[in-house]
Amino acid sequence: MLFLTLLALPLQAQQAPPALDFAFFQQYVQPIFLRQRAGHARCVSCHTHRIPPLQPLSAGAVTWNEEQSRKNFNAWKAFVKPGEPGKSRMLMHPLAASAGGDHFHAGGKHWNSQNDPEWQTLAAWVKGRTAKLTQSGVRVLQSNSAGDNIHIIDPATLQVTGVMEGTEVPHGLVVAPGGRRIYVTNEALVTLDVVDVATLQVSKRIPLSGRPNNLDVSPDGKYVYVGIRQGAGAVDVIDTASLRNAKTVPVKGEVHNVYVTPDGKHVVAGSIAASTISVLDAATNTLAWTLTLSAGIRPMAFTQNADGSTKDIIVQLSDFHGIALVDFQSRKEYRRVTIPDPPGIHKETEGLQGSPSHGLAITPDGKMLWATSKYYGAVAAFRLPSLEFVKLVPVGSHPDWLTIPPDGKHLYVAVAGDDTTVVVDNKTLEVVKTIPVGSVPKRITNGFLRVD
Ligand code: HEC
Repeated sequence: MLFLTLLALPLQAQQAPPALDFAFFQQYVQPIFLRQRAGHARCVSCHTHRIPPLQPLSAGAVTWNEEQSRKNFNAWKAFVKPGEPGKSRMLMHPLAASAGGDHFHAGGKHWNSQNDPEWQTLAAWVKGRTAKLTQSGVRVLQSNSAGDNIHIIDPATLQVTGVMEGTEVPHGLVVAPGGRRIYVTNEALVTLDVVDVATLQVSKRIPLSGRPNNLDVSPDGKYVYVGIRQGAGAVDVIDTASLRNAKTVPVKGEVHNVYVTPDGKHVVAGSIAASTISVLDAATNTLAWTLTLSAGIRPMAFTQNADGSTKDIIVQLSDFHGIALVDFQSRKEYRRVTIPDPPGIHKETEGLQGSPSHGLAITPDGKMLWATSKYYGAVAAFRLPSLEFVKLVPVGSHPDWLTIPPDGKHLYVAVAGDDTTVVVDNKTLEVVKTIPVGSVPKRITNGFLRVD
């Protein structure tokens, strides 16, 4: 009898509800109370003298101090049901009835849909999202090119475990060796943003010589190289000890992407406008050689010789649905491989931004290359080193950058047209998960984040 009763309990009742995180409330929930939505009074304007109460702001203050925030937290957490946004009055009262909200709120309906980013933020808090990472480990970082945030995915669970906010129009991002910092290029402010992993907050913004695109970090962590997309083109060299822009190295043409080669010996910058690859000597941070190809230089990847030195640069080019190979030693292009056109699949030609194939990743064992196909909303697998075509795997609309964590299990695809990150198994070559992320996800990376 007792046994049957236990079985009849819903699964959720057997799990402890998630704890509500104070830091997340302070950093992401409270700004919602203060924000002005067009045509609406702000929550703070009424709720300083309504239930649930908000503390009055101190004279001249733009937000609440620690003590006031604690009081707000304690008052408002009584109006949510941990784990259940749909049963939380804080979320349902200002939500339009047509979107599932309560019938009436004397303060008006502030959200028309549960997809509203503010509502989603509140829902994440109610479901137990924390502002900080609670465990060290490898994470996949998805930057949202039309958003103001970056999603953090745990490869062990394929779940979003955090969202980093504070960089509007984030471009590229890279994890520092050692895992205590994340560097993000900020197109809106023309800075390199330094994010502390312990707090997931921007701790410093370093001014750049022009509007940035992608970046990379040296294997010893000493330098961050930022591609400058403005003016004649340059690579800014950031000294990570002093956190200063130490040097601007002029290169041939405005820079789209920058990579440090796997052996750490060279910095390779590609220009779309000048169709040129510029190679810097990383020992001196000076320009060593350049190579001009027939079209704009897009993402690149590198294969290695047995001694670790760079063998080929694999290059994607403007208006080319495939890859080109450059022999690093002789500095010459020697081969092109086209992604085959599959029969009977719609060919997308809108919004390709001049780049039908834009995203590359090599598995850590060096045996497989993935390249995206925006034409066919897919990723293409090739065997290495032969470049024999294996399979086209559909992932969604406008797939873009790719990353593979060191365990090599999965490929992560930023699917810009669907606001998702799609996970593909590197063995079965099948999609195993589609993860909703932010607005127009493009650049994606992975790295070990250290919080202890
Ligand atoms: C114009 C003033 C006003 C604004 C603006 C306003 N509220 Fe309210 N709110 C009220 C009043 C009055 C009540 C009590 C009457 C009612 O429940 O509708 C209330 C009630 C509530 C309740 C309590 C529901 C309950 O079950 O008792 C919650 C939660 C709430 N508001 C949340 C918010 C949030 C969140 C915002 C901002 C997004 C907000 N309110 C903006 C006036 C306001």
